Amino acid sequence: MSTSPTSALVADPFPVLEDIRRAGRLVWNDAAKVWMLTAYDDCAAMLTDTKGTRFSVPGAVSPEAFFWLEAPALINTEGPDHRRLRRGLAPHFTAEAMRRRWEPRVREVVTDTLAPAVEGRDHLDLKEFNRIPVVVVAELLGVPDERHDDFRRWSDVIIRNLAYGNEGPEARRAMGAVIADATAYLNEEIDWHRRDRPDDLLTVMVDLPDWTAAEIRSVALSILIAGYETTAKLIGLALVALEGDPEQRRLVAEEPALLPNAMEEVRRWLGPSQAVPRVVVEEVELAGRRFAPGEMIYALLGAANRDPARWPHPERFDVLREVKPNLGFGLGAHVCIGAWLARLEVNAAMEALLAAVPRYGLREIDYGSSFFARGPERGMIDLAVTAPA
Ligand code: HEM
Repeated sequence: MSTSPTSALVADPFPVLEDIRRAGRLVWNDAAKVWMLTAYDDCAAMLTDTKGTRFSVPGAVSPEAFFWLEAPALINTEGPDHRRLRRGLAPHFTAEAMRRRWEPRVREVVTDTLAPAVEGRDHLDLKEFNRIPVVVVAELLGVPDERHDDFRRWSDVIIRNLAYGNEGPEARRAMGAVIADATAYLNEEIDWHRRDRPDDLLTVMVDLPDWTAAEIRSVALSILIAGYETTAKLIGLALVALEGDPEQRRLVAEEPALLPNAMEEVRRWLGPSQAVPRVVVEEVELAGRRFAPGEMIYALLGAANRDPARWPHPERFDVLREVKPNLGFGLGAHVCIGAWLARLEVNAAMEALLAAVPRYGLREIDYGSSFFARGPERGMIDLAVTAPA
């Protein structure tokens, strides 16, 4: 396992987040030159700012922050363009749409993925388990099997290097190469979708009369990237949280109806998205300070999700905790559009694993170095565990 300072922070950011939260509601990060909000209410106020003109996603103010997206997508746009793009996709991502269109397929993919466990193999590489979100997001956009590895690689490279405009030359070169490949590939995809019209999200997008081809490519690319890595990491975090607490794991394994709440608790307690950035657009007061246009603020989701003003004993992982919405999918206009899909995948994956191997083990878990999408990147799931839970 790597021991660089970044990797050590990513492996266990919670003591550091706790120190930051203790330092106050608003803390200056001199290394990143950003302010950090640590309280749930302050983060929620910024993310749901009803005026909608006082804070912006960085990419809408300076395209440099998402230089790898060639056109307005969702995460780099505000105002009428954002609403137009979101309106086109939102009906296809509701809880109901996901259940109807995707639940049976997600369960099939989970069953295939867990076949080795059922057939008596003694371990499963985390990478094998993580094929669930690869296959699902790829099928959502109509990416054929033979391109799944490419798309996993594109997503890895972008997420690993993501720094909202602060990427160094090496990172930019790597990201640029991936974007060139992905753009060429998406152009082919869009062409055949216009022709053959398969029943998937890319056909929905090519049919939207008010979307440009560049917007389709940028939104498709951001869904490929946002939809795989974060979900894979949430599945990994769910494995870690339950394995680390055999008593709670037993509760969930014996009563699968607890699973949706347990997974909300995993997202609160460990969630992959540790921070989301905003830029101040109009002078505004927040968390006791007056901010000037151009200042950057992070909603520190990892700290806010353990805010003792909202959750009693927030440092405890408790699958029976009364569920209150947390910030693991963000909030407000940019709240994760794929939230219901991610929930469906994580719940189905964990339900099936707990049914087949309720006392699975974990080893060689490595969190890599990505803070913005944090979670296990490598590791092994032991399937032949005989020790009592
Ligand atoms: C556990 C899995 C996931 C987590 C933790 C997660 C987290 C987030 C968060 C925190 C945001 C808000 C970003 C901000 O406010 O700046 C977001 C936005 C977004 N997510 Fe997810 N996400 C997950 C899965 C997915 C999936 C499965 C998809 C698509 C298939 C997806 C697509 C998006 C998109 C397109 C946005 C931008 C929405 C907008 O700006 O309007 N995400 N996600």
